[in-house]
Parts: sequence; C-alpha cells; structure tokens
Amino acid sequence: MDKTLLISKIRDGTVIDHVKAGMSLKVLSILNITGKEHLTVSVGMYVPSKRLGFKDVVKIEQRSLERPELDRIALIAPDASISIIRDYEVVEKFSVSLEDRVVGIIKCSNLNCISNTKEPIKPEFFVKSRKPLVLECIYCDREMFESEVLSSL
Ligand code: CTP
Ligand code: ZN
Repeated sequence: MDKTLLISKIRDGTVIDHVKAGMSLKVLSILNITGKEHLTVSVGMYVPSKRLGFKDVVKIEQRSLERPELDRIALIAPDASISIIRDYEVVEKFSVSLEDRVVGIIKCSNLNCISNTKEPIKPEFFVKSRKPLVLECIYCDREMFESEVLSSL
C-alpha cells in the first residue's frame, strides 16, 4: 500500500498522467504554460509506476483544458492519459490522439521552406508515421523525425 502520495490529489482541473518519463516540461511547453498564467501546476518527474517503470505526471488546477489543445500532447507523449477532475472526482477520462495533420505547433526544419518566410502561412505537417513519429511538411516535403520535433519545442 502507498503510504504517501508524491503529488496530492486536486480538487478541480486536468491531470495528464502516464507521460513518458522526462517529458513533462515539454508537455507544459506544448500547452503554452509558462508559469506566468497564475495556474497551480504540479509536475512529477520520474515517478515510479507499476505499469511503466517510471513516468511523469502533470496536474493543472482550476483549468479544464480543451480536447484539441490536449491532443497536441500526443506529439510528445502518445500514451498520456487525461483525467478531468471536478470536486475531487474524475468526471472524464480519455487518451490523447494525434490528428492526421499537425498545424501551427512546430516549425519546419527547412529554413528555405515557404512556411519559414514572412508569408502568413502556418507550418503544417502530414503525419507520416506515429510510432516512431515522422512528420512531412506539406509545403516542402521535408521529413521531421521525433528528435527534431522534440528539440524544436
Ligand atoms: N487524480 C487527481 N486528483 C483527484 C483525482 C484523481 O490528481 N481528485 C489523478 C490521479 O492521481 C491519477 C489520475 O488523476 O493520476 C486518474 O485518477 P484515477 O482514475 O483515480 O487513477 P487510476 O485508477 O490510477 O487511473 P489510471 O488507471 O489511469 O492510472
Ligand atoms: Zn517545409
């Protein structure tokens, strides 16, 4: 039996659990949470997990994040599970899923790509493979692999 809880339960908000160990700060980054939003956020890194060995956990209080926003997480933590908490109870639970297109989240690594010029064009990628992650720029066909996606966040 667990004698202590590493991170407390929350009253209201969003729990992002089963994040690949070491990825929680990237999760905050992809959600554009910088620490200046006046949200109470708890981050657990390398938390022992029966199923995964180790995992990261992110708990964002007073804010129920919207589905499209949460699905961004699938880019960096495809196995993450989301729980929406209200009055201490889990009222909704789902896994994140990566859409077929990734729009406006990461930049193309090809500096000459039209999406990197001053044109008002949002970077857009077609998801070529999910595991391992491979994205293909719809403008210049440049492929971006997991490590490049991560370092661009
Ligand atoms: N949680 C929380 N605050 C609450 C209720 C739940 O922070 N008031 C968190 C739990 O710590 C867990 C997640 O929300 O990380 C899902 O809660 P629950 O379904 O109760 O946990 P488990 O059964 O362990 O879920 P799973 O099988 O997804 O690990
Ligand atoms: Zn491109």
